[in-house]
Amino acid sequence: MLTRMDGAREDEVSGETRMARKGSRPVAWWLIGCGAMVFIMVVLGGLTRLTHSGLSMVEWQPLRLLPPLGPEEWEAAFARYRATPEFRLVNSDMDLEGFKGIFWLEFIHRLWGRAIGLAFFVPLVVFAWRGMLAPGLAGKLLAIFALGGLQGLLGWVMVKSGLVDRPDVSHFRLAAHLMTAFLILGAIEWVALDLLIPRRAAQPSRAVSTVLVLTFLTATWGALVAGLDAGLVYGTFPLMNGRLFPDDGADILNAHGAVQFTHRMLAMATLAAATWAWVKGRGATLAALAGLAWVQAALGVATLLLGVPVALASAHQAGAVALFALAVLALRLEVSLRGDRRSSAAVPSSPERRGPP
Ligand code: HEM
Repeated sequence: MLTRMDGAREDEVSGETRMARKGSRPVAWWLIGCGAMVFIMVVLGGLTRLTHSGLSMVEWQPLRLLPPLGPEEWEAAFARYRATPEFRLVNSDMDLEGFKGIFWLEFIHRLWGRAIGLAFFVPLVVFAWRGMLAPGLAGKLLAIFALGGLQGLLGWVMVKSGLVDRPDVSHFRLAAHLMTAFLILGAIEWVALDLLIPRRAAQPSRAVSTVLVLTFLTATWGALVAGLDAGLVYGTFPLMNGRLFPDDGADILNAHGAVQFTHRMLAMATLAAATWAWVKGRGATLAALAGLAWVQAALGVATLLLGVPVALASAHQAGAVALFALAVLALRLEVSLRGDRRSSAAVPSSPERRGPP
């Protein structure tokens, strides 16, 4: 029998759940805003790398928000840069004005990271305080926030690898930094979509899951290509300087040609999988996914043939993030659509819907 206290508790619980449900749209849109900020962050990071600005700030001060103020602070920052291998081996003729030019992009990249941290954490606390987060959601959001913190640290660990004796960051650390950004974006998007589209108990589609995994792998090897500057060798397509295979060995993690070749092969597999997913499933989202995969591959080929110009290489990087985000959306829609189909097949139709015998 239900006691009065049980009833009160039930009222309280259902009140909380109602509040959380009512709050799910604003929470979802806030998350989509944060996802857009992460997207911009990746583009800024790519531009920082492509303009060789990434090693200009030789200290990590996560709580400092201001750039150098006044000539003395600029001189001090420039003096620290002059002690790095990049200055000594690549930019020894750079003056203070030139230094400021490469400093700003890295500074904005780091500042934007902090802005994302704030834009994520402050509303998270407010939503939690107002009881607008469904049970379990706060934990997921905190995990994403922790991943964001780890990403900042990873960025610094990457920069540090370029301050020791060679003026280049480790390509593995660069790949880890980029792919953590993909994971953060994917997680934010998945949680936001969960709040907007009711999930059904359905297996995700194998074709779209394959596109998602292949896009992630292709982007990982793309980051290795970028980290090794391997887009500047074997600048022909489809052959590798007239050969079917690169002639610098089979080390697909370190040899420039082999790394670029692996990126190409994964890209072709992604293209095939996205086209196949569309042929099998049709629909606007899968058509967009296949279309974007072709555009992305074309951008990659153009980036390679034209010797990695900044604008194209940046568009190619942004295209990779967009393709990944679209694959996450397609997968999430598949989960609910397939569930819809399955549940409508399982639920016996009502006498009215069944129509006359
Ligand atoms: C589904 C297809 C593809 C995806 C998802 C993809 C993804 C990526 C990513 C994420 C990067 C790293 C960008 C950065 O960190 O700045 C990259 C770099 C690169 N990709 Fe692709 N890529 C694809 C297809 C291709 C193709 C077909 C080619 C050419 C054959 C290509 C050539 C390159 C080159 C040359 C770079 C290095 C650019 C640089 O140094 O900034 N990509 N790719």
